[in-house]
Amino acid sequence: MTNVIETNKLTRKFNGFTAVDSINLQIRKGELFGLLGPNGAGKTTTLSMLSTIRRPTSGTARVNGFDVNTQQDEVRNSIGIVFQDPSLDDELTAYENLDFHAMLYGMPAGQRMERIKEVLELVELSEKRNEQVKRFSGGMKRRLEIARGLIHHPKVLFLDEPTLGLDPQTRRNIWDHIREMNKSEDVTVVITTHYMEEADSLCDRVAVIDQGKIIALDSPDKLKHSLGGDIISLEADAGLLPHLKKIKNIKKIKRMNGEMSISAQDAEHVIPAIFEIAQKNKIEIHSISLRHPTLEDVFLQITGKSIRDEKAGAMDMFRTRIRSRNR
Ligand SMILES: Nc1ncnc2c1ncn2[C@@H]1O[C@H](COP(=O)(O)OP(=O)(O)OP(=O)(O)O)[C@@H](O)[C@H]1O
Ligand SMILES: [Mg+2]
Repeated sequence: MTNVIETNKLTRKFNGFTAVDSINLQIRKGELFGLLGPNGAGKTTTLSMLSTIRRPTSGTARVNGFDVNTQQDEVRNSIGIVFQDPSLDDELTAYENLDFHAMLYGMPAGQRMERIKEVLELVELSEKRNEQVKRFSGGMKRRLEIARGLIHHPKVLFLDEPTLGLDPQTRRNIWDHIREMNKSEDVTVVITTHYMEEADSLCDRVAVIDQGKIIALDSPDKLKHSLGGDIISLEADAGLLPHLKKIKNIKKIKRMNGEMSISAQDAEHVIPAIFEIAQKNKIEIHSISLRHPTLEDVFLQITGKSIRDEKAGAMDMFRTRIRSRNR
């Protein structure tokens, strides 16, 4: 398998502060690869070095076979980038924004027209091509930026927080477009995100990054399975704890803010066992819920902290809350 991106101890410091700390990465051709991490983890700085916007303090990286330290023009011509901060011209139409960009890449007029038509279709904005961008919704702007990043047929497309600030429905729509262009344009895609659900549902592989370091790297499924089962959250009197330890298939019990977080294999069968033991010992269960582990749990497990407070929303879709009282 060919690697389109390879980094070797890639490092960036700002006045002695290490923002990216000796990162080693291999990203394969055609992959949809994610850098997942909290604010300030070093995601944008990593992309900046891979796209030659910033120079590494030390270490090297090759993108499409070109060295970011010595072959900057070659790297730039072979990549597309969508920045974290919006960078469209609001006064121009969708078409004009794309045309301007294509001209910057030296595309001849005839080719430009055809290619713009193609990328607009890809992100379903053909009907809006002659509208000023200032009338676009956040999601439409993002789609147009993705289209723009693809104009010159890059081999790698970098997307820095592609769905930042968008509502969940729009976010899903953008994911569909990213998946679609990853396939149909045959382009390797590297996204950064701090939305664990985004990394989970979109990416083939994810590098979890914290304080400039890669702390885990694998497919989302493998990362989640590494935790050893499903997670049962339990609110009950503390007296239940010693009894729980007798239930087989319970791998780990952690207590956090009055709640017990239990990692268990075959959790659907563990729950009845918990009720049985509680009843036998006349201990009250206030609430119990079961969910599959998320990348948030992976992050929590490794770093002891949460990626960010993102409790409401997507995660709850996986949560089946069983409220119960047994006396
Ligand atoms: N130009 C700069 N000068 C000084 N420090 C910087 C500069 N750019 C980034 N940093 C610092 O480097 C660290 C990593 O920043 P970076 O923007 O790469 O994080 P990020 O993972 O992209 O975060 P976010 O999720 O907020 O976009 C942060 O602590 C940031 O304050
Ligand atoms: Mg960033």
